[in-house]
Amino acid sequence: MSLVRPHGSEELQPRFVYDSERHQQLMHEAESLPSIVVSSAAAANAVMLGAGYFNPLQGYMNLADALSVAESLHTADGLFWPVPVVNVVEDASAIAGAKRIALRDPNVEGNPVIAVMDVEAIETIDDAQMSTIVEQVYGTQDDKHPGVAAFKSAGRQVISGPIEVLNFSYFQTDFPDTFRTAVEIRNEFAEHGWSKVVAFQTRNPMHRAHEELCKMALEGVGADGVLIHMLLGKLKAGDIPAPVRDASIRKMVEVYFPKNSVMVTGYGFDMLYAGPREAVLHAVFRQNCGCSHLIVGRDHAGVGDYYGAFDAQTIFDEKVPEGALEIEIFRADHTAYSKKLNKVVMMRDVPDHTKEDFILLSGTKVREMLGNGVAPPPEFSRPEVAQILMDYYQSL
Ligand code: ADX
Repeated sequence: MSLVRPHGSEELQPRFVYDSERHQQLMHEAESLPSIVVSSAAAANAVMLGAGYFNPLQGYMNLADALSVAESLHTADGLFWPVPVVNVVEDASAIAGAKRIALRDPNVEGNPVIAVMDVEAIETIDDAQMSTIVEQVYGTQDDKHPGVAAFKSAGRQVISGPIEVLNFSYFQTDFPDTFRTAVEIRNEFAEHGWSKVVAFQTRNPMHRAHEELCKMALEGVGADGVLIHMLLGKLKAGDIPAPVRDASIRKMVEVYFPKNSVMVTGYGFDMLYAGPREAVLHAVFRQNCGCSHLIVGRDHAGVGDYYGAFDAQTIFDEKVPEGALEIEIFRADHTAYSKKLNKVVMMRDVPDHTKEDFILLSGTKVREMLGNGVAPPPEFSRPEVAQILMDYYQSL
């Protein structure tokens, strides 16, 4: 059996320039092009386009596509896509009139060129368009929502057109063992002989519930393996930094998973906290890296109380047309350790339960314990994982 096809094309068409001669040429050309330092979100979009995750997009969307995607989850010419992929800046005067420009990375010292772009249009988002995009994608206009705040603060000038990507920003240098492109992940699946693979999206360390969720999904769909695929980009204040999370996940996999059943990897993108819409984006790019299934559990990609606990599952029934994606969703119910059954279970599998039957700790409570050097109970968090997290919190 072969892997699922990429979204929108037979083969992945990553925008990274793999040909070394062309790469050199572009680096040279970029020196003399008008250039602009882009937002962190736009740089992350470039990384995702370069890595093949955003297949079949070739570059940044124009305003019509961004609005169409926000309103109907399709580009103006009908490609299924859940979240605008844009390059928005406050002030585009430095590149006014230019047809070809260099994009500079805001996240790497010296702002090196990350991509070369053909500019098709520079348009201004007006107030009504801004509020449509934000409302549709994030389901709120609230500036306290970290994704909304980041989107609104990037600016109003939408620079659209295809790009050629020259590097993977800080992701490849800071996370050499973990960062992967979609192309690399597909190749590694093939090397392992995996054709059915479950993806686990995460931006957090993994506790017992997450470990068991992966095991349940692995067994439930009869997969060859699990791709733990963590976000390596920017997070809101208070979230655990990627290197700490990476170390704790690797430890958990080493001790508690059968050998060769898990790949621990990451992708270079900033968290949107867009809940349901981001879950659909997660599905699109896991399909691009060859996964047959994506685990979507409770409050997937959510923040605060902006989304219902399972909105990120129902969106697949309500907004994803039949046949739009090949990847399937593994729907997880609230998962926790049952004191009665002495194991981690999904609540839907234990009818007549009460909350008291489970070991449930809020994120705030867990952070407080770890910060005080107190390990959460082993039913909640593996001791090896708790140790790494305690060391981190105590170093703050
Ligand atoms: S996310 O923002 O990347 O989605 P997180 O790393 O917390 O956040 O969650 C990763 C995945 O595990 C998501 O699919 C989420 O829905 C799921 N998940 C997390 N905790 C639970 C839980 N207790 N029960 C069920 N699913 C969960």
